[in-house]
This record gives sequence, structure tokens and C-alpha cells, in this order.
Amino acid sequence: MIFAFICGVICILFGFVQYGKYSENKGKSSISKIFIPILVGLGLIGIKLIPIPFFKESKTIEDEEVRIILLGGPGAGKGTQAKFLAEKYNIPAISTGDILREVAKQDTEIGKKVKETMESGNLVSDDIIVELLKKRIAQEDGKSGYLLDGFPRKLSQAEALRKEGIEIDYVIDIQVDDDVIVERLGGRRIHASSGRTYHVKNNPPKVPGVDDITGEPLTQRADDQEETIRNRLRIYHENTAPLVDYYQDASRKGGENSPKYKKIDSSNNIELVKESIFNFIDFSD
Ligand code: AP5
Repeated sequence: MIFAFICGVICILFGFVQYGKYSENKGKSSISKIFIPILVGLGLIGIKLIPIPFFKESKTIEDEEVRIILLGGPGAGKGTQAKFLAEKYNIPAISTGDILREVAKQDTEIGKKVKETMESGNLVSDDIIVELLKKRIAQEDGKSGYLLDGFPRKLSQAEALRKEGIEIDYVIDIQVDDDVIVERLGGRRIHASSGRTYHVKNNPPKVPGVDDITGEPLTQRADDQEETIRNRLRIYHENTAPLVDYYQDASRKGGENSPKYKKIDSSNNIELVKESIFNFIDFSD
């Protein structure tokens, strides 16, 4: 846009110089007669005083609908990166884990069932989670894009997305070794009401045990005990890892509605992981 503006200004100035020459030698140069209006016209288009419908400014990715899936094992860093992506692309970060933690607080049959399932590290049944997700995406803020953190977690859930016509543009697969995950989740601390996440060593709060923004105490998740973490990892390798092939194949085949897949190494520090994801989304078209 700046380039077009500068070109516009140069065209107009050049047009005036030509007009000066033309006035001095009036009637002698028929080329100037054609040249001057063309230059001034291009100049006005460049500085946008004349709009033309087919001369569209190139859109940045932030102006477009962005629909992202964050794949990856427990503790891979999905929630951490979800916050950055939601802010940059102005989309809601929809975490099925967070949705289910709210359900688990309810004193209902479903609430109790969900709480028990989550505390053991197993997956909540599709009939519950698919309905909850559909409702969440249908909310107003989902109309300009969304980020799914923790969904789908198995092939049946990916198929449910497809059947419901819920479109996805990018699948970001955040990968890290199991041992790193156990260390990360063991040191994870949460600010419950905002969902802000810290790590006692890798991403510590300014004051130990306290949220940076509100000053409220941080807590540890019930499913962040080592035995439960190992069970979550087992479930991930059995159920969620096959989604890597599913989305890689879809991405390779291409086609109008197929998402673009990218594996990201999350053993790097948080900033580097963030940069790799942003670069992929911004420059993959
Ligand atoms: P959910 O809440 O989704 O948990 P999860 O997938 O196990 O993932 P986490 O939230 O534990 O980890 P994360 O990848 O977000 O990592 P984070 O960024 O926090 O699900 C919980 C439960 O809900 C499931 O077990 C299941 O029961 C149920 N559920 C949810 N969705 C479901 C579905 N679709 N179907 C059925 N059931 C479902 O990072 C972890 C730590 O590492 C943090 O301390 C962070 O600061 C640190 N860290 C992050 N990145 C880095 C880095 N690059 N370097 C160093 N440290 C890092």
C-alpha cells in the first residue's frame, strides 16, 4: 500500500512536470497530450483518490477467517500456544478440556461422570463432547474463525467435525517426547479463573505461586499427578496419534476444503515454538 502511494505521488509530480513542458511548447508535443492524463490518472489511483473495483488491496491473514486445530499430547504446549494464536488472529481459543472442567463442577449426573473420567485421564465419551463443541463453535465469536485446543482427540471426533461441515484451515501438530511431558506437567501451575498457565522452571510467574496479573494463588490440576499423566500419554498414543496420519494425508491430497498440516517441535522454547507456528500460518498459502 505504501509502495502504491509513493508511485502515485511520483506519477502526479511527473505529470505536472510534463504539463509545464507542454504549456511552454503548446501544441508542439502531441505525446504529452496523452501522457499527462495517464500519469495523473495512475497517480490518483495510487493514492486511492480514484477507487477501482478490481484493484483490491492484498489482505493480510489477520483479516481473514482462520480455523485451526492444535493437535498434540498432554502437556505438549497446546494451551500455551493457543493463547498467542487467539490474540494474533483475533479468534476464540476453544479448549475442550476447559469446557469439560466447567461441566465437571456441576452437581449433576453428567458433571460427576465427566469429573471422574477426567481425573483418571481417560477420554470423555463422544456424545457428550461433540454436542458441547458444536454449541460452542456456533456462538457469535466463532463466526470469524476459531482455534480448537484438544479436539479432535480420536478419529471418530475428526469424522464428526467433517460430517458437521466444521471447516479447518490449519492443523498444527505440537510434538514433544513423553519424558519432557512428564516434567512439564509435574511443574505446571494454573491460574484457574483465567486459564493462564505457568511452569515452575520454564515459565515461572514473577512471584512464585501467584498469578502475574491478578496476584491470586496458582493451583495444580488434579490430573497432573505422574500416574495420571502416564495414563493420559497412553491414551494419546492409542487414540490421538492416528490423527496425525489422517490430517497429513488430507493435507497431501490437497483440494478445496483440506487443511494444511504442520508438525512443530515443541522441545524448543516457548517463543521459538510460537514463531514457527506464526510463520507457518502466515506464509503457507
Ligand atoms: P486438556 O485440558 O485438553 O488437557 P491435555 O490435552 O492433556 O493437555 P494439557 O492442557 O494438559 O496440556 P497442553 O498441551 O495444553 O500444555 P500446556 O500449554 O498447558 O484435557 C484434559 C482432559 O479432558 C482429558 O484428559 C480428557 O479426559 C478430557 N478431554 C478433553 N478434550 C477431550 C475430547 N476432545 N474428547 C474426550 N475427552 C476430552 O503446557 C504444559 C506445561 O508446559 C506448562 O507448564 C507450560 O508453561 C509448559 N510449556 C509449554 N510449552 C513449553 C515449551 N515449549 N518449553 C517449555 N515449557 C513449556
